Amino acid sequence: MTVMKNNNYNNGTVNFGGNKSGGGKGYFYVTTPIYYVNDKPHVGHAYSTVIADSIARFKRLSGYNVFFLTGTDEHGLKVEKEANSRGITPKELADSVHIKFKELFAELNISYDRFIRTTDADHVKTVRIVFEKLLENGDIYLSEYEGWYCTNCETFLTEKSLTEGGGCPQCGRQASKVKEESYFLKLDKYEKKLLDYIENNPDFIKPEFRKNEVLSFINEGLKNLSISRTSFKWGIQVPGNEKHVIYVWFDALLNYLTGLGYEDFLDGQNQDFYRFFKSVNHIVGKDILKFHAVYWPIMLFALGLEPPKTIIAHGWWLMDGKKMSKSLGNVVDPVSLIKKFGPDALRFYLLSEITLGLDGDFNIDNFVARYNSALANDLGNLVSRTAAMLNKYTAGKIPGCGVLEDVAVLKTAYDILNGLSGRYDDYDFAKILEDIFRFINILNKYINDSAPWKLNIEDPEEKINLLKILKTVAMSIYCVSYMIYPFMPETSNKINNILNIKPFNLPGFSARPEDMKDNCEKLFKDEFCIIEKTEMLFPRIKLEE
Ligand code: MSP
Repeated sequence: MTVMKNNNYNNGTVNFGGNKSGGGKGYFYVTTPIYYVNDKPHVGHAYSTVIADSIARFKRLSGYNVFFLTGTDEHGLKVEKEANSRGITPKELADSVHIKFKELFAELNISYDRFIRTTDADHVKTVRIVFEKLLENGDIYLSEYEGWYCTNCETFLTEKSLTEGGGCPQCGRQASKVKEESYFLKLDKYEKKLLDYIENNPDFIKPEFRKNEVLSFINEGLKNLSISRTSFKWGIQVPGNEKHVIYVWFDALLNYLTGLGYEDFLDGQNQDFYRFFKSVNHIVGKDILKFHAVYWPIMLFALGLEPPKTIIAHGWWLMDGKKMSKSLGNVVDPVSLIKKFGPDALRFYLLSEITLGLDGDFNIDNFVARYNSALANDLGNLVSRTAAMLNKYTAGKIPGCGVLEDVAVLKTAYDILNGLSGRYDDYDFAKILEDIFRFINILNKYINDSAPWKLNIEDPEEKINLLKILKTVAMSIYCVSYMIYPFMPETSNKINNILNIKPFNLPGFSARPEDMKDNCEKLFKDEFCIIEKTEMLFPRIKLEE
């Protein structure tokens, strides 16, 4: 694929395992929604992105060729209005706010391959090509739209769906009446095809319970979708009829094609496009499922492409039970949390606290409590006490093949590792983290129960026992470091540094979770030294701070 053109491509520090053109075992394409630039990012945006990042990292470890796309949605009335209210142009607003997203993603160690902006030249070109293609084949036609519009959700609404006071059913804000000439996308033509696709592809919408919402929306009957506006300016102009700008959702959804190089694909120059696109996993919030599970597949049908493989709809983060919003002043700022607790504390909380698909409450007391108990006490302490014992009893040496490890303890680690791929296929992050932390507690208990500090190093039998405990725990921590890598990459790297072990993609090693048992046994065959100075992974933090 012809990528690596500008600083919107990430050629940073993370990629191990497969890469876009390497010889991995398969292709995997993961996307986040692209974020509106009317305001700076909040914790909900961090959530969609951290989910996608964790999957991307795990798939890379497992040897897949991964392409991970994120970015910003910069056109539309909502952005235009915000720019007007700040007295700047929409492009100036987009230029400044998209940087905030990039900064947040850098802070969070998001390993995206491309950060797309809908104002990027290749995207604008793709949208216009697609529009013309569908106009030519008759799936787009010109007519008139009369109805309701919610600017906040950038959605057309039926009169029936409005709240009593004429508000949007999704966000409650006042809807406005619109009557204007508009291009339409034929939806009714593809209704049956879409229903068949949903029925025959159980992996299409996840979690399963969201499928019914989509089905009932389709079963109400799909009305052709208005896909252009004439009453404002900030958008991609319709080729050949420039008083129209293309509807922001039509424009935005196409980012998933631009990001993969659709234009080159149409020119016959991009072999990878189809391989990646067939494997696409779109991570979206439940509020935008309809756009991805109804409009998007129909746009793809019209283009002669397959619908996405999987759309994963996550729930919402509430703040003390209420929806986060600027007007309520209860928006959680991810940047200040990262400053205080580090990126992995936020990643951990977001992924472990709610089961994917359900809503959760972002409660700061709970955040601090979980940080102190799971990260500082359980994980942080396990690593620091092990390093301290190794330094004290064996001058930092992890014993080699002369000392046998405790197979029963390690079996628990290998069992978790063997189950990981299946768990990821179910997007069951909270459960995976629960298993990992249960294992961490098994290790802490193993150390407490076997009390190495009571063993007499001068006694040959007790010394062997001591070495066995230390070796077992060191090997187990290495497995833990692997398991947490997709969720907490910085911590995983720190642990590897402390253990003085290279990352998981050593030459001649496979980094698939199923191969970690072999890797671990090979690595710990030879005696080696951990580093002397170890840093505290998660210093305890008092709530008042
Ligand atoms: N621009 C569209 C998406 C276009 S994708 C082709 C959009 N942008 S958004 O900025 O409003 O929202 C982006 C994502 O953030 C959505 O998936 C949305 O669900 C998510 N979240 C916004 N607030 C959220 C919470 N409070 N909690 C969890 N996620 C939420 O929609």
